[in-house]
Amino acid sequence: MSPLHVVILAAGQGSRMKSALPKVLHALAGRPMLHHVIATARSLGAETIHTVIGHGADQVRASVPEGSIHWVEQREQLGTGHAVAQVLEHLPDDARVLVLYGDVPLTRSATLETLVRHISDTSLGLLTVTMDDPKGYGRIVRDADGQVTAIVEQKDATPEQRAIQEVNTGILGVTAAQLKAWLPRLSNSNAQGEYYLTDIIAMAASDQVTVEVNQPDDALEVQGVNNRVQLAELERWFQRHQARQLMLDGATLADPERVDVRGNLRIGNDIFIDVNAVFEGDVRLGNNVRIGPGCVIKDADIGDGTEIKAYSVIESSSIGANAQIGPYARFRPGNTLAANTKVGNFVELKKSVVGEGSKINHLSYVGDATLGTNVNVGAGTITCNYDGANKYPTVIGDGAFVGSNASLVAPVTLASGVTVAAGSTITRDVADNELAVARGRQRNISGWERPKKH
Ligand code: UD1
Ligand code: CA
Repeated sequence: MSPLHVVILAAGQGSRMKSALPKVLHALAGRPMLHHVIATARSLGAETIHTVIGHGADQVRASVPEGSIHWVEQREQLGTGHAVAQVLEHLPDDARVLVLYGDVPLTRSATLETLVRHISDTSLGLLTVTMDDPKGYGRIVRDADGQVTAIVEQKDATPEQRAIQEVNTGILGVTAAQLKAWLPRLSNSNAQGEYYLTDIIAMAASDQVTVEVNQPDDALEVQGVNNRVQLAELERWFQRHQARQLMLDGATLADPERVDVRGNLRIGNDIFIDVNAVFEGDVRLGNNVRIGPGCVIKDADIGDGTEIKAYSVIESSSIGANAQIGPYARFRPGNTLAANTKVGNFVELKKSVVGEGSKINHLSYVGDATLGTNVNVGAGTITCNYDGANKYPTVIGDGAFVGSNASLVAPVTLASGVTVAAGSTITRDVADNELAVARGRQRNISGWERPKKH
């Protein structure tokens, strides 16, 4: 099979976005639109992905790992035909070529596979869609036998042609040889003074190359984004689709309209996700996990039976089975929690390891700490891990009990079975099973009289 080369057009300015960010870098489901298109091209087995860039070229280039894309600069945007022509010299003669657009992010691979199957010496593939209001789009002109003979742009169309409701999506598949024969013959003598890629359709018809048309299952698959309203429409459509898949995969969603997945969410069975949860990056939820309302969970692995209660924020952390987290817990990156752990409200964790059965139930900061098993950290306890210049570790042994409102000044080690008196400021290591008291001793003064108002 001849190699498949994908050409992605992404040189346009996107002025209707009203943005300093190039249009194709605006995010859909947390990823730039262009990255969705690149992922689709990869899924089709593209040998090379050529991306035509112009406006914001440096920013666009910097958005993907170096070496993964062949970039082609189009210095002046003289039309879609001119854009594809910039890639011609990089296309092997025997290649099949699929043209996609950086601002059309959600075309399904299956739709494009059908199109690609029509690429041959005697045919090409064209993706069209039928619209109630075709205004602004190129119209698909067919002859009496129903064969496609041309595409006419809105501004060049006669009133009869403007009545045609079948429009060009812009997406097409041709051979490199056909492009090499046709593109050099494009002219810009048309209403917009542009080199139209769409003019190759009439050339195909006169060269006896059949135009094979297919249409997507859903028009939103080929919806381009010109402004933020269209971007939001595609976002909702995509999120709804993902929510449906989650339900089919074993999650109960309190409301499928109110869950957002910006990345890759893998789930076990019998998951419950309450309203307004947001998942980012790579997240895995084990069986029987419950996610409370308003949680934000990014790059995390959550074990079987664990519950993340309302309004918790979890980032780059791994949590074992049957843990109880939140409400209002905050995990900054780098935590590993074992099974049966508990982290309660207004607790902030950072780069910490928490052993099985340990609890940090209320109002604490635990950073750069390693806790053994069955540790109890009392309310208001703070690891003082930072001296203003460097960070230091805190180690707390198995079964330790840290009283409320303790300050643990790192580096410090509390061995196993240690008890820390409430309100202590601990600056020295404590040995096994010792009680550490580090606070002013209480005096009770009898006969004390309160000051009186003059
Ligand atoms: C194009 C099609 C039209 C189709 C419509 C679907 C042509 C002539 N017309 O019209 O038939 O119905 O798309 O949306 O192809 N681009 C470049 N370099 C250029 C010009 C465009 O990279 O020199 C890119 C733009 O960034 C954009 C895409 O190509 O993503 C489409 O260009 P645009 O000028 O918007 O074409 P339309 O007028 O929408
Ligand atoms: Ca357009």
